[in-house]
Amino acid sequence: MTAIPQIIAGNWKMNLTLSQGQEFIDTLLSMLNGKELSRELLLAPNFTLLQALAPRCTGRGIGLAAQNCAFQESGAFTGETSVAMLKDVGAAYVLVGHSERRQIFGERDELLRQKVRAVADGGLVPIFCVGETLEQRQSGEAFEVVISQLHSGLAEFSSSQLIVAYEPVWAIGTGQTATPEDARSMHLHIRKFLEAQFTWGERVPILYGGSAKPENAAELLAQPEVNGLLVGGASLDPESFLKIALA
Ligand code: 13P
Repeated sequence: MTAIPQIIAGNWKMNLTLSQGQEFIDTLLSMLNGKELSRELLLAPNFTLLQALAPRCTGRGIGLAAQNCAFQESGAFTGETSVAMLKDVGAAYVLVGHSERRQIFGERDELLRQKVRAVADGGLVPIFCVGETLEQRQSGEAFEVVISQLHSGLAEFSSSQLIVAYEPVWAIGTGQTATPEDARSMHLHIRKFLEAQFTWGERVPILYGGSAKPENAAELLAQPEVNGLLVGGASLDPESFLKIALA
C-alpha cells in the first residue's frame, strides 16, 4: 500500500476579511521562504476570499477549499453558490457536512449526499465531515453514528477523489481534543468502512478535527490512519498553522 501524504487543512469558518486573509497568506509564504513541506496545506476561507487568494496560493503548495456549496447546478436559488462557481474562482475542494452546517443550519443526511455528489460531478474533491456529539459518545453510539453518516453521505458517490474528516462535535472549539487513542480507534473504524465500500478506500485521506493545535498535533499525526488535521481556531494565525504543519 502506498503511503497517503498527510494534509493540514485550515477551516477559517466565518473569520478573516479579505485583507486579513491576504496578509495571512503573505506571512505564511514568507515564513516558509520557499521551503517545501512534507505535508500538503489546504485552506478553507470564506467564499468572498477565494478569488483573491487563488493567485497567491497556486503553485505554492497551498490548496483552496470552499466551506459549503449548493447541490443544484444553477438556477433560482437565492443566496446559494454552485460548485462550478467555486471551481471558477480557484477552489479545488469543498467541505461538506461540517457539524456546524448539520447542527446550526439543519443540513440532513439526504441533502449532504446530494452535495457530495454535486461536488464530485463538478470535478472538485469533497471533504466529507462526520462526527458524534458528546451525548452519542457517552451512550456508546459513536462508531455507529459516524458509520451511519458515512454510509448515508457517500451512498451515491462514485468518484475516487475524496477526503473524510472525523470531527467529534464535543471537541470542536471546546479546547477538548480527542485523545490520540480515541482518534486512532475511530480512524481505524472509518478506514475499515471505506475499504469495504470502495475498491480505492485505502487511499482516502482521513483527517482529524477538533481543537487541534501546535501542542497536540504531533501526537495526533503519529496515530495510524490519522492522515492529517482539519484545524479551526488554530488555523487563523499563520504561525500556529505552520507549527502544526511542521509538528
Ligand atoms: P477547532 O479547531 O476550532 O476546534 O475547529 C475544528 C473544526 O471545526 C474544523 O473544521
